[in-house]
Amino acid sequence: MDFLDIMKNRRSCRSFIPGKTVSREDLLKIVEAGRLSPSGCNSQPWKFIVVDSPEAKAKLCDAIVVENGMTGAPWRDQVSAFIIFVEQEAKVMPSVVAHYHDTQRFAPGDIGSACMNMCHEAYSLGLATCMIGMNDQQKMETYFGIPAGRDVRLVLAIGYAADNTPVNKVRKPLDEVCSFNCW
Ligand SMILES: Cc1cc2nc3c(=O)[nH]c(=O)nc-3n(C[C@H](O)[C@H](O)[C@H](O)COP(=O)(O)O)c2cc1C
Repeated sequence: MDFLDIMKNRRSCRSFIPGKTVSREDLLKIVEAGRLSPSGCNSQPWKFIVVDSPEAKAKLCDAIVVENGMTGAPWRDQVSAFIIFVEQEAKVMPSVVAHYHDTQRFAPGDIGSACMNMCHEAYSLGLATCMIGMNDQQKMETYFGIPAGRDVRLVLAIGYAADNTPVNKVRKPLDEVCSFNCW
């Protein structure tokens, strides 16, 4: 499949076949796509925690509910496996720190690109994904032993789509998001 066709056809899945399990082999291929991803100064400021046991998934499902019961994933009980993306301290070049006074300047973008590569690898394996942005940091630390203050930036849900009907991508028009040579 042409790469742009993968971009056009991949979509966030919010309806998974419950009980259809993603193999560890496939999960490791997905993680490998993240591990191979680029990062600022090659700092690789991430830890990927794969969550696929029933007990750990129950905890994860609780940790992606925030205050007042809000969650980005009301469908979370159907998901075969999750990957938690934890931001690690980035060892970047001294010039980056001197300029931005911040070691983590590139880290959220690095994690986003790793997650996106994982989504595309999952898609190429016939799997479906959805990124989940909101989580309860305190619960994540308690349930998964994440060191205090290491931000959970994303959670990726992975499974088999219950419905593969193509949907149109809703995107801003090209001329609104792109220009050549000046703003
Ligand atoms: C950082 C980030 C956080 C997201 N969080 C959620 C979420 O909590 N729940 C959800 O259903 N979708 C979530 N999404 C998916 C977006 O809603 C989705 O990517 C967007 O609507 C475009 O649709 P598409 O992925 O099908 O092309 C998130 C996406 C990103 C990049």
